[in-house]
Amino acid sequence: MLGYGVVSASAYLGGHLVYGKQVGVDHTATADKYPKDFVAVLPESELAENTMRRVEAGEVPVLLARKNGTVFAIAHTCSHLGGPLSEGELLDDGTVRCPWHGSVFSLRDGNVVNGPATEPQPKFEVRVRAGQIEVRLQQEADK
Ligand code: FES
Repeated sequence: MLGYGVVSASAYLGGHLVYGKQVGVDHTATADKYPKDFVAVLPESELAENTMRRVEAGEVPVLLARKNGTVFAIAHTCSHLGGPLSEGELLDDGTVRCPWHGSVFSLRDGNVVNGPATEPQPKFEVRVRAGQIEVRLQQEADK
């Protein structure tokens, strides 16, 4: 009976942490919704140097940032616990700090520079056509 009780309590706790608190869940795991073809997300003139903002690419939010004249795009929802990266801090070294728990991600490739996040941010290819910033999910071969 004691063993049964321990197993039941452990199962409840594990389910609560993963499904209730979403501990250890990659909050960017919606890759099937990310655009595979370029979609226009913002007029280029509306993204000033050293700024970032949230835009919508199809059904998913994307973080756009302009640093040293280059426009970068990574997933907007932090892979740790879903923080809004556009409300974080754009750092001088080309990284962004999440406002909720301070994870730092590279804008260049979406990799984690500092935790607590362990999963990288999905990265998007960026191009400018007819004055519009366009993004699409980075293709596997380009990573
Ligand atoms: S939600 Fe971004 S670091 Fe926790």
